[in-house]
Amino acid sequence: MSEQPILDALARIPYPVAVVTVGRGGVENGLTVSWLSQVSFSPPQIMIAIDNHHFSIDFLRSTANFAVNLLREDQRDLAAHFAGPSDTGRGKLEGLQVDEAPSGAPVLRSALAFLDCELVASHPCGDHSLFIGEVLHGAVLADGAPLTTATGMRYHRARPKKASS
Ligand SMILES: Cc1cc2nc3c(=O)[nH]c(=O)nc-3n(C[C@H](O)[C@H](O)[C@H](O)COP(=O)(O)O)c2cc1C
Repeated sequence: MSEQPILDALARIPYPVAVVTVGRGGVENGLTVSWLSQVSFSPPQIMIAIDNHHFSIDFLRSTANFAVNLLREDQRDLAAHFAGPSDTGRGKLEGLQVDEAPSGAPVLRSALAFLDCELVASHPCGDHSLFIGEVLHGAVLADGAPLTTATGMRYHRARPKKASS
């Protein structure tokens, strides 16, 4: 049976578009994430789902904290920038204005809002892993509406890499 009807139905779920940043010992990275949700009021906790093959997964597994930078609706270019892979060797945060959150994670100064999280749990979930963060600090940094997948920007499954001939 085709999985396309399931994929089509799943694609109707709306999500925010954010940049998750991680930093450790002067080494930093960020990636665009939309599989993101609040999961507890008290204490405030959120979860993100990260592909097990992403460069950033090792960072998240070995770092005790991360920050979620919610983007403004006019920041599609920034979302596309952080959706690029890290294996090119270029630093995705290079040249951008960042502040350091109390946990040490970089925060994008131009973001709509940020959530500074301490990693409290992780869980394998199919081809992704869930990371649960307790939100220790956060603030709204700008006016305006959040960037969401309603704009047409969406998380697509990466195409399998072609075998080299
Ligand atoms: C709109 C959008 C949403 C995305 N959401 C996720 C997500 O929730 N989880 C994920 O693992 N990758 C997501 N991605 C893909 C990653 O941002 C992308 O694969 C990135 O290159 C990974 O960065 P890294 O190589 O630095 O780890 C999304 C991409 C886009 C364009």
